Amino acid sequence: MDTRLLSARSPADLDEAAALLSRGGLVAFPTETVYGLGALALEPLAVRAIYAAKNRVTTNPLIVHVLGEDEARPLCARWPIEAQELATRFWPGPLTLVLPRTERVPDEVTGGGPTVAVRAPSHPAARQLLARVRVPLAAPSANRSEHVSPTTALHVLRDLNGRIDAVLDGGRCQVGIESTVLALTPDGPRLLRAGAVARSSLEELLGEIPDAAPTRIAASPGQQKRHYAPAALVRMADAAQLPRIAADLPGRVGALIHSEIALPDGVVSLRLPPEPTGYARELYAALRELEDRDCTAICIESVPSAPEWDAIRDRLTRAAA
Ligand code: TXA
Ligand code: MG
Repeated sequence: MDTRLLSARSPADLDEAAALLSRGGLVAFPTETVYGLGALALEPLAVRAIYAAKNRVTTNPLIVHVLGEDEARPLCARWPIEAQELATRFWPGPLTLVLPRTERVPDEVTGGGPTVAVRAPSHPAARQLLARVRVPLAAPSANRSEHVSPTTALHVLRDLNGRIDAVLDGGRCQVGIESTVLALTPDGPRLLRAGAVARSSLEELLGEIPDAAPTRIAASPGQQKRHYAPAALVRMADAAQLPRIAADLPGRVGALIHSEIALPDGVVSLRLPPEPTGYARELYAALRELEDRDCTAICIESVPSAPEWDAIRDRLTRAAA
């Protein structure tokens, strides 16, 4: 299959992307968080193709992307007041809600489970695409399974060229890490994945939100220990330890830092912004760059323990697991 590169700035290309999707094809598209690999969410065969292209285990459910609350509701068997308030406050944006599903949602999307994850992305290209196809789109991050999520169209092609119909290029993703995933269960809200919307912003609305106990929610791989993994050995350490760790690691060593640290000669060192918004935006591209520069080991300067860094710390801890 030839993968076409389409531009989100061209209305004709947006039409073409929508036409490919409507025929059951696979089109990667930009969202504000990371690129998603889209297919018609209510068409089992189209959804199955996502799993094949990514090499993803079929028990790992997908997020369904919609324009807004009106499009989400028919997919959810319940739409509690919390869902309505959260959607009003955070949609369109990087918050995914997990709710009981209706029969419209195929098993292929939910991994056979009783719930569905829905989110309304804010990226204009994602919205233009959704407006054209006029039905929900299932979309996991557009990377090969277990690889870091893509934040540019080029990242998508690196992982999926020849395996999907097209990539809609909408430039670099502004947020850079995945959405926050929140389950609204009968026992109250549970955080399934830290992400671009801070837990504290959700708690302003809902009160204290516990993490989901990993055993209670069936296989939510956002909860697997090793997940967001670059193809290299990864170690985390604070600034004081990092030069020694870098010197001890085998092979070609890369480093991700955010403060001024002198590292041994030969270490490929990338410095990320010292605040969480900028750091998140550049993190995945930096991990991919270290891979592309043939680093076989990567050491990462630990990030602050403040809550604004939660989602980033979560990704780094998994990468290093
Ligand atoms: O920002 C994002 O969320 C991006 C963009 C493309 O929207 N998507 C994304 O999808 O990160 P993915 O498939 O890479 O991660 C979705 C996470 C997984 O951890 C999955 O297990 C969880 O959401 N998930 C999806 N449906 C679920 C469900 N019904 N119950 C529990 N977890 C679910
Ligand atoms: Mg993913």
